[in-house]
Amino acid sequence: MSSHLTTVITEKQYREFARGLSEEIGTLPTIGSLKKDSVLREIDILAKQFFSQAIRQIKSHVDSNDGGIAVADIPLSDDLSSAENFVCGAATFTALFNAVGTPFRRNGEGAPFSLHKASHSSVGKMKSAGLEKFTPDAKLGFHNDATITTDGVALPRHIGVYNAFIGYNNPGCFHWLPTSSWNEADMFHQMAEEDVRTTVKLTPMMYEDANGDFVQRGPSFVHAPLIWKNTDGNFRYFLNGEVNSAENSDRLVEMCAAMRKSIASSDSRIRIDQRERRAIILRNTSGFHARDIFEDPIQGLDLSRIMLRIVDSRSEFYPGTLA
Ligand SMILES: [Fe+2]
Repeated sequence: MSSHLTTVITEKQYREFARGLSEEIGTLPTIGSLKKDSVLREIDILAKQFFSQAIRQIKSHVDSNDGGIAVADIPLSDDLSSAENFVCGAATFTALFNAVGTPFRRNGEGAPFSLHKASHSSVGKMKSAGLEKFTPDAKLGFHNDATITTDGVALPRHIGVYNAFIGYNNPGCFHWLPTSSWNEADMFHQMAEEDVRTTVKLTPMMYEDANGDFVQRGPSFVHAPLIWKNTDGNFRYFLNGEVNSAENSDRLVEMCAAMRKSIASSDSRIRIDQRERRAIILRNTSGFHARDIFEDPIQGLDLSRIMLRIVDSRSEFYPGTLA
């Protein structure tokens, strides 16, 4: 673990932030209260007051050329109930993400994060809905996060993930490879010069409906480049989903496999231990991330993980077509 990337928030800072927040949202906070504009404004004001040093550090780690990632451990306060610690932890995560981006909110008014809850009993349901990559016991190889629209691929500038709860004794590591540290990148840049486009089978987007069933949302395929140069002349990558021979030439399938292998075998990756109440904030346009399989579930618990994810509303867009 690269400890120099970790930002420390003291219990005192967290407690004072929580106290200020509870004045705004009342004594019985719910996660839903974090949708309110007035609460989100208050989170920003309180963060400037209590987390200014952490915010500066996170910004400098995420903005740095050879880094692009920051880690923050959010304390627990004995003064708060577990429900209050859950809500204040989510609020702190939101406040820290604001250091580098503006959280996307559905219709401009939803929560600043999406909440992903997994349980052992839901794993079968998730797998049958094609969501096996979202189950905690799945290995998630190197990729970057993308949003697919009807006219192309958007790479959110920043992504934040926060493990509010981990029901495993061995959750392994989160891995980050900044594109600046990918030493074989040059081998693949010809694809950008030639404007090589691939048909990518997308990883289904996770969506739990009102009945608790998991359903797929969004398109299944997109036709887009895997590598391009943005308007500033920087290489950008779209590494998500699968490139299969049913939709692509053998040459393309081989090139993509070689690219994935090169990224996966790069020894300059940064390893971050997965930990409960640990927030990870990264510059999604400038690196690839992956995580280990969560192992050794805590016995007697059905709940396996609660994860919050923030997506920056600002993104870099590249035109493509739905295939
Ligand atoms: Fe991801």
